[in-house]
Amino acid sequence: MTKFTVNERPVQFNMDPQTPLLWALRDAANLTGTKFGCGAGDCGACMVDIDGEAIRSCLVTIAEAEGRFVTTIEGLSRDRSHPVQQAMVASGAIQCGFCTPGIVMAAQALLKSNPNPVDADIDAAITNICRCGVYPRLRDAIKQAARIARGEARAPAAAPPPGITPEDAARAVPAMTISDKNKI
Ligand code: FES
Ligand code: FES
Repeated sequence: MTKFTVNERPVQFNMDPQTPLLWALRDAANLTGTKFGCGAGDCGACMVDIDGEAIRSCLVTIAEAEGRFVTTIEGLSRDRSHPVQQAMVASGAIQCGFCTPGIVMAAQALLKSNPNPVDADIDAAITNICRCGVYPRLRDAIKQAARIARGEARAPAAAPPPGITPEDAARAVPAMTISDKNKI
């Protein structure tokens, strides 16, 4: 039995100790925000925070995570209020979304160790692969998140919560209309 802390909760996994952390999180803990991309340590889609460091969870066994503190994208904030999340939404730095959780986890770890990163710091720390080329916006977003975290900028308006109704979506996106059954 392997024990460690996930998103501030002590958990124990009754799995082969050599199971990659990525699969323990996704399949056993149902924390599917952590993505499987390459499984080989290249893409960064599986990035989580372990004891304050951004780590590719496909390269870590649960035995290696024993006794450590793991944070996934689900545990970063309950309401997408972390400065990195707010700044990435505001900067349009979210494209396909699949690689976004890993990028956010890498960026939040960077800001913990470097509260005022320049472009070169960001390029060195965010090695996640993004095929849509979001990197210029990502640099802007991370610098904005750093300013928010330092108290030098205000957080942009919060993104709408997930799971909004079609009616809410229609109000938020004027190009989309909902048929009014009573008028048809
Ligand atoms: S799935 Fe882990 S780095 Fe790609
Ligand atoms: S955000 Fe996923 S490929 Fe760029």
